[in-house]
Amino acid sequence: MAQTGRARYAVALAEEIPPGGRKVVEVAGKSVGVFNVHGTYVAVLNVCPHELIPICAGWVGGTTLPSAPGEWRWGREGEILSCPMHGWEFDLLTGKALAHRRKHLKLYPVVVEDGTVYVMV
Ligand code: FES
Repeated sequence: MAQTGRARYAVALAEEIPPGGRKVVEVAGKSVGVFNVHGTYVAVLNVCPHELIPICAGWVGGTTLPSAPGEWRWGREGEILSCPMHGWEFDLLTGKALAHRRKHLKLYPVVVEDGTVYVMV
């Protein structure tokens, strides 16, 4: 097995974080939000890259999709984290900001084994 230089921390039972759910934990001195995005667990450093406030209390939902003039389409429900301060939207699966090319969330690898969720920090 390759060494990643990361330590593995048990943060939750998988059943504690159902699809659409989240849990904010302290790991190695960092606040980390663990989200279940349609069955995929994602770990996010609880810091917004805009003004460094805790972002993991933000709203999880969808976003507007590219559409023709006069149309309004909504999608990606459950995949987008909106910052509670100014509403910037971030893709939970990639960490990328939707409207700011160079801003992104810090994500950590997640492993689920035997019903336990581990974050690699
Ligand atoms: S602090 Fe998060 S969008 Fe401004």
